[in-house]
Amino acid sequence: MTLHRLLSFRAAVPDPDALASYYAELGLTATPAGGYSGSDGGATVHVEHAAVRRLLSVDIGCDSDRDLDALQQRLEAGGAAARRSADRVSVVDAASRVEVTVRVAPREAPAASAAALTTPNAPGAIVRVNERAPTVFEAPRPPRRLGHLVIGTPDLASTRALLVDGVGCKVSDEIDGVIHFLRCSTDHHNIALVHSPVPLLQHYSWECDDLDHVGHAATSLYRTDPGRHVWGIGRHFAGSNFYWYLRDPAGSFLELYADLDRIDDDDAWATGRKAPMDFDHIANAWGPNLPTEFIVPEDLAELEAAWARLDG
Ligand SMILES: [Fe+2]
Repeated sequence: MTLHRLLSFRAAVPDPDALASYYAELGLTATPAGGYSGSDGGATVHVEHAAVRRLLSVDIGCDSDRDLDALQQRLEAGGAAARRSADRVSVVDAASRVEVTVRVAPREAPAASAAALTTPNAPGAIVRVNERAPTVFEAPRPPRRLGHLVIGTPDLASTRALLVDGVGCKVSDEIDGVIHFLRCSTDHHNIALVHSPVPLLQHYSWECDDLDHVGHAATSLYRTDPGRHVWGIGRHFAGSNFYWYLRDPAGSFLELYADLDRIDDDDAWATGRKAPMDFDHIANAWGPNLPTEFIVPEDLAELEAAWARLDG
């Protein structure tokens, strides 16, 4: 794959300061370039002001100028208006209104191994006796890195076509017309697409070391304000990851996750132990039912009115 990682996304929200405070609670790092990253650095979230929340852009890393040449040709052959500069190619998806930029960037350094993960006791496999599990003493700590985002688009087919046939993302799982899980790295998904009446940042997600890390980080946000809880804890079918979703102050959902599928061999993923995804798998393998607001956000009417004004 010529694409190798998610670099960043940029969102606009009505109150960037409130979002900055929320990110500080989670322990995200404010970067010198004005973004927010997890404790490993890597991909960043950038936030700016707008009257209504929206996703502005997504940046993806590739290896070389040659990758950019091929990308530009592919986009233009597909009828997209690509903009080329020295180290990047950008294109705007007309449906989701998101600008997608691919630029030459170094590959991500291998992550340091998770700190002192412990093996749990299980029937027939007792590894800890006469002591409490170390994780009960842990304090919340920041998530490791930004892993993926989910774009709500009014035209799922055209956004998928641009990102897959044009930009070069790969498809890991999908249910046609409902949800598409795309990757630009070995993560099962870095960008997912869902249908939405208006362009939308549906959720974005931060990787944690394990289920306890997810639990400690999510609980710290939840205990401050139980109204932030949205969905979890559970395990998704697509991507296999544990998840817990919370509401951010702008109305998008923030996911904390662990144990995501990794794909470094397309054929092995397509023909190996990958069970096909069907409609029953959209929400999860186990966990609470999908909340309605995950499909119909509570501010949808406000968003629709704002987009009608913008397009009027
Ligand atoms: Fe997610």
